[in-house]
Amino acid sequence: MASPLLVLFAALAIVLVTAGGCSGITKGPVLLSVSADRAAIMWETDAEGQGKLCYGKSPTLRKCVDSTSKKVQYKATTPKGQTIQKTAFIHKVWLEELEPAQVYSYRVDGAGLQSKTYEFHTAPSDSNEVTFVVYGDSRTNPDIHRKLIELMKTRNVDFVVHTGDLASRGDQYEQWGTQFFAPVKGLAETIAFYIAKGNHEGSGGNFEKLLIPPGQGNSFSFNYGPVHYLCLDNVSKDAKSKELLRLIAADAASSRAQWKFVSYHVPSLNFGGHWSDWGYPDALPSLAKAGVDFVITGHSHQYERFLPVAPPVGTNGSHVTYITAGGGGAPLYEIEPALYHASAKQIHHFCLFHIKGNKLTMDTIDVNGSIIDHLEITKNNGRPNKQYLWTAAPMETIRFHQVLHSALTKTVPAKPKKNEPFTVSYKLSAPALSSPAKMTFKLRCEQGTYELGEPQTFTIPEEGGTIEVKLTATPLADVRVPKDAQGRPKPISPALWVDCHYEIGRVQEDISKPIVAAAEKN
Ligand SMILES: [Fe+2]
Repeated sequence: MASPLLVLFAALAIVLVTAGGCSGITKGPVLLSVSADRAAIMWETDAEGQGKLCYGKSPTLRKCVDSTSKKVQYKATTPKGQTIQKTAFIHKVWLEELEPAQVYSYRVDGAGLQSKTYEFHTAPSDSNEVTFVVYGDSRTNPDIHRKLIELMKTRNVDFVVHTGDLASRGDQYEQWGTQFFAPVKGLAETIAFYIAKGNHEGSGGNFEKLLIPPGQGNSFSFNYGPVHYLCLDNVSKDAKSKELLRLIAADAASSRAQWKFVSYHVPSLNFGGHWSDWGYPDALPSLAKAGVDFVITGHSHQYERFLPVAPPVGTNGSHVTYITAGGGGAPLYEIEPALYHASAKQIHHFCLFHIKGNKLTMDTIDVNGSIIDHLEITKNNGRPNKQYLWTAAPMETIRFHQVLHSALTKTVPAKPKKNEPFTVSYKLSAPALSSPAKMTFKLRCEQGTYELGEPQTFTIPEEGGTIEVKLTATPLADVRVPKDAQGRPKPISPALWVDCHYEIGRVQEDISKPIVAAAEKN
């Protein structure tokens, strides 16, 4: 039997390490997955040794699971700017044989350390209700990320989905603490964070070591109440879009959930920022055919919700709602509002979903706590209400807009010279359309800065086709070709724009792009 003095000393040591805040736990604990019968938890310590996580139905901790750590050595910078070598030990465990809809307590134990006791609740086995958050791109500005987490904490959510880019340079291990683990403290211990890998996570394996539970791949799905949610890695080198689209289709087919969500990092539909079109031309038709309801991505640091995208003409797929939710903290990008946006804002934010059976509401909440977008959908016989479907945009014209943007974003190869005519040319290969596209292209400028040639008009037939546009202008003044801080060319000065007007059936839109010329050599 241990002596009373020894027991007193041990108890005092535990009190000291926990009360003093130097428990030796350097990251986490973070819940990485919680279903009706199991949960995954990670934590990191700065000391080697066997770890242990004790848990049980609150308030007792009857069971313990042992953990062997994974050692990570990395370079860190001291406050004085010195580079030092550091070592960390990552623990990840699964808690098995849990009961649905129960509150569990857990505590991390290890050699000389003990965490606080935290609580989480397991998913219900037969509920039709869920509340969750989706956000992404929280890297680089932990203060903004922290503000968003504080707002999330007030919303009583069941889980959080992150659409990737958690650290500016994920291959630098020291960034994970300040940019992800510190800001999510106070929420991630009790609510599961499901993460779709972003390109900034890097290829060195830090993301997988820290945040993917043992035995799980980077692409995974889970169920919660009426929702089936698939998180995909579309940024790793081996992430082939055709294979991932097949995976989405198979995963959606395997679920009878009323609402099907997919998140991946690089969007398939995104106007502004990176203008990403991951999976083009297959993604949009494939996601509609798969019967997905929502596709929520990141990568472009902005908020945009598209009108529901109708399945291809003559097919029976779902009307998919695409959202770019890349406003978790990273520097904001310029957005280019378009006819197909239901909402578009350049602001830090997260999306809060509440679903009860066939009724879905979403509030998008900005960093000040204001609601910047609101959406309601009610499903009848598996289809969204008619009022929502009436707002749908034809997939063919959205894809046309993507192609047109790409064609118009072209650099004039040489700097235009005063009094010398030059040509701005575009080649546009349009996909099949719902009806013929009537198009007009013309250049525009401030009065007296250029002499402009005639506008050009085209009609692209329903089956699609290629047109070549050649517009002429003569500068009446010297032209400058400015560069941005990274040396990339900015629009020429005096400014010159190309204006394009198109009509496809009842849809008509005007797109304008500034003319950019190749940067001058210094
Ligand atoms: Fe990204």
